[in-house]
Amino acid sequence: MCGIFAIVNDKTHRAAQTTLEGLKKLEYRGYDSWGVAVVTEKGASVAIEKHVGKIGGATTGLPNGTIAIGHTRWATHGGVTDQNAHPHLDCTGRFVVIHNGIVENYQELKQNLIKKHHVFHSETDTEVIAHSIEDAVKNKPTVQAVLEVFSQLAGSNAIVVLDAKTKTIVACRNGSPLVAGIGDESFFLASDVPAFLRYTSTVHFLSDGEAVVLSNQGIKLFDIRTIKTKPMSTQTLDWKLEDAEKGGYPHFMIKEIMEQVRTVPKTAQVNNDVISAVAKQIQKGNRVVLTACGTASYCALAAKYFFADIGLEVQSYGAYEFAPFAKFSDKKTVLFAISQSGETADTLIATKKAKQNGAYIVAVVNARGSTLERLSDAVIPVGAGPEIAVVSTKAFTSQLSTLYLVSQAVTGTLPKAASEITTLGRVLETWLTDTLCEKIIKLAKDLVDHTDMYVIGKHTGYPAGLEFALKIKETSYIHAEPFAAGELKHGVITLIQKGTPCFVIATQENSKLELLSSAAELKARGGKIIGVAPFPSAEFDVHVPIPDAGPLTIIPAVIVGQLLGYYLGIGRGTDPDKPRNLAKSVTVK
Ligand code: F6R
Repeated sequence: MCGIFAIVNDKTHRAAQTTLEGLKKLEYRGYDSWGVAVVTEKGASVAIEKHVGKIGGATTGLPNGTIAIGHTRWATHGGVTDQNAHPHLDCTGRFVVIHNGIVENYQELKQNLIKKHHVFHSETDTEVIAHSIEDAVKNKPTVQAVLEVFSQLAGSNAIVVLDAKTKTIVACRNGSPLVAGIGDESFFLASDVPAFLRYTSTVHFLSDGEAVVLSNQGIKLFDIRTIKTKPMSTQTLDWKLEDAEKGGYPHFMIKEIMEQVRTVPKTAQVNNDVISAVAKQIQKGNRVVLTACGTASYCALAAKYFFADIGLEVQSYGAYEFAPFAKFSDKKTVLFAISQSGETADTLIATKKAKQNGAYIVAVVNARGSTLERLSDAVIPVGAGPEIAVVSTKAFTSQLSTLYLVSQAVTGTLPKAASEITTLGRVLETWLTDTLCEKIIKLAKDLVDHTDMYVIGKHTGYPAGLEFALKIKETSYIHAEPFAAGELKHGVITLIQKGTPCFVIATQENSKLELLSSAAELKARGGKIIGVAPFPSAEFDVHVPIPDAGPLTIIPAVIVGQLLGYYLGIGRGTDPDKPRNLAKSVTVK
């Protein structure tokens, strides 16, 4: 939630404009409002511009400067107003603050500051940070003041503080993501690498308890507790600028859907060693537990079927409901935490609980340098590249194929599974094309005015259905409800009326007949049956053929849901890259 960007030593002297462009790459993290602050070259004062709403194609007339910070907000404390938009200032206007997270003890801090006659201009928790620094700096240097104030903040937070007087930026991390970019002459900070990828791919991912200080003199890393410098661990990522651009597509979502012809087969090449090591942990007889949120939790559920099919009973939990079950994790547990971002608060909390109990933690992540990676004993990076659209697409299918590889590695058939995924990649190349898109566009046009849809599936078709329905809901705001096919007759069937769109997701040969019986029950009540299946059937009013990829048929089935969600969203005039009320990375509980 919320995107942070900062630059020092901008040789173009257009630091505000550079910051605004960086923020545009972070808008997926929040789009309630945005703001930029720059230290002006004349007079070294601070100029700020803030607006409610999405950045879109915004430009800024802020004056020249070489040091600036900016923020794109997903509101938590205080409504969506210009006053509550970041950056926030102290009473003197010297300290300018942007923030990602929640200062859980802000009320207490605010009351103390009000007693000391500080004047607040917003309802945010963030503003207490600026006023606290103003107080602290009276008897100590800026860096020490900022680090000490940060240590007093409860909750998961990342802050960036611009000191206009010394032209220094101090940034601290505890629980919310922050990455420093090291360019030839300029230095950057951001919540995520794509924001500054145009300038550099050499980065240091801050760990919790670390701070960086940026000035024209360079960049220094600090330990927040000891206030001492420490060596940076920089790495150069293999991400390309194109990964963070739309590349001719109208939206990141459709670009990322189409990229799956490349990202799915890539999973068969990149992680064999770590997958084999993790499989060994499972072969020791350890209990396997999977946890995740949202789309990633449907991957956990699908993996449960992958493991069941090799004869292993595993548990999967939505991370937000893990607490009562955490006590069952122990030294003989292998916990898979699945996450695109590696920063989802609920997933991190569940992982920490299992880790405290001694579980072996495996992170199945897409973004790099995340908190989840750091908590883990083994990391399987699924390698889908930056996923910029708020709704998850390519990361999900890479997670699915990765978990399939893990399940097969347990039975010693990893090379065979890898070759199945490579074959699927070739099949996707001929199937996931403009022709398929045209078919789905036509279907979307037929369905766009419906208010309710239902999705049923069996075996891996069930998690596929959950994800299929989620894509429709998130992107088009149409009510789409998924069910296990067998659940239908236990109540849900009352909802089916003449013409109600009912998607039937078939991913598995063995359950085909049962699934088609459920389809027939829907049809008998007037449902319009749309079969997403490798085979035709008399029960289908519309058939969207998908390739039969054996146990991996869930992947093309979900891709149909992604495309349909996208084109329904387009038909309804939504912004598929930034659905209302959502943020890409849910770093709050
Ligand atoms: C749906 C979506 C969310 C995320 C969920 C977990 O399209 O993007 O449901 O899947 O918030 O996020 P990660 O995978 O980053 O932990």
